[in-house]
Amino acid sequence: MLNTNLITNATALLASERANYVKLHPKSAELSAKASQHFLYGVPMHWMNDWGTPVPLFINHAEGAHFTCADGIDYTDFCLGDTGAMFGHSPAPVAKAIATQASRGYTAMLPSTLAPDVGETLSDFFGLDDWQLATTATDANRFVLRWARAVTGRSKLLVFDGCYHGTIDDTEIDIIDGKTVNRASLLGQVYDLGMHTVAVPFNDLAAVERELAKGDVAVLLTEPALTNCGMVLPNSGFIEGIRALTTKYGTLLTLDETHTISTARGGWAKANHITPDFLVVGKPIAGGLPAAAYGFSEAMATRMKAAKDSAPAGHSGIGTTLSGNMMTLAAIHATLTEIATDAAYKHMLTLAASLEHQLSAAIKAKKLPWNITRLGARLELQFCEKSPTNAQQARDAQNDTIESAIHLYLLNRGVLLTPFHNMMLICPSTSEADTNRLLEVFNDCLNVLTSQ
Ligand SMILES: Cc1ncc(COP(=O)(O)O)c(C=O)c1O
Repeated sequence: MLNTNLITNATALLASERANYVKLHPKSAELSAKASQHFLYGVPMHWMNDWGTPVPLFINHAEGAHFTCADGIDYTDFCLGDTGAMFGHSPAPVAKAIATQASRGYTAMLPSTLAPDVGETLSDFFGLDDWQLATTATDANRFVLRWARAVTGRSKLLVFDGCYHGTIDDTEIDIIDGKTVNRASLLGQVYDLGMHTVAVPFNDLAAVERELAKGDVAVLLTEPALTNCGMVLPNSGFIEGIRALTTKYGTLLTLDETHTISTARGGWAKANHITPDFLVVGKPIAGGLPAAAYGFSEAMATRMKAAKDSAPAGHSGIGTTLSGNMMTLAAIHATLTEIATDAAYKHMLTLAASLEHQLSAAIKAKKLPWNITRLGARLELQFCEKSPTNAQQARDAQNDTIESAIHLYLLNRGVLLTPFHNMMLICPSTSEADTNRLLEVFNDCLNVLTSQ
């Protein structure tokens, strides 16, 4: 099968599926026109318009692994809010906790009586002693960077090419001609981010050591596996290697587990017995309500207190008014104690492993040079024969036309993948019938794409 045939088929498929989408979604088109009167691009956040559908899909009701759109069509959701709904939409215990708290106050700039239990729950779940809350994972990363600079007295941040840690400017960089520069797509950033941020390729321990040896890196921030440029797993010993190197050169190691919480209960670091200096989590920890947290050791807490106590009183640059509010505390507690259980993870991981096998077999049957990469409950389809080992390889494997054609074909048949790459996530209420439906539609799509 020549790639050109695949692209020709994908181009034709994309055009017919766009027409199909318009026919299937008159109510979404109507809502889009109406919302355009008062929302930029007709959506509450401009990137909601970037899904590649002719008009955005408007959601009516989401529960468990499914949702219905404004046109009454049922979808099996493998995007799950790009991890925000990784424990399912509107899980009953979280809905109950929110309803109970709803008549007891939302926010007061003071902790609720549940605060000690939430601290203990976070500590038990992720295995780090001390915690602080934020409202988004972006903010949690931003705050950790501040703490790290304050604690070490160093200015530099080391990240990996292809990283994404939210809209924290310091990480919105690319490597061009060996230099760390502002991402070309970044709007309104007037500072040269390469002044204080250095990026090196993932899985390259020598490059990490070269930068750390300069002695000016406050913190190395990374996901245990890159999950935002396709999926790049760490080589065996790589994260252990950066742990050892950061310790050797006095740099703090932050693991952003916002997505890799898919690995196992407690996240990748706990499952792999690595203790970072800071651990960041966000998105699903309050069942999909805005919440994030960062954890650290007792020893780090002592250094943080010393930095804070030696600064004059006033704004620390760390914190937002609504973070750690009473509603969020109730939702985090219910999510981590009642939803993200061992049994839930067992189901998610077993079903994801089985889906990985079946999708791989479907790809092999068509002799396509593609692969499925999996991290616990999270799977990524990539258009390369083997899992990439760095972001450049992952980027080289991307093909917008094929990707968009697959996404839209599946979406028009009630199966939703994560936009901007090919991620599929399993939640506690995803069933075998749901994964069978995905496989059936994926196989049909491959038949169309590979037809002569
Ligand atoms: C690894 C990682 N960290 C942080 C974030 C930021 O999360 P939020 O947009 O909720 O701030 C993201 C978002 O996709 C992410 O993938």
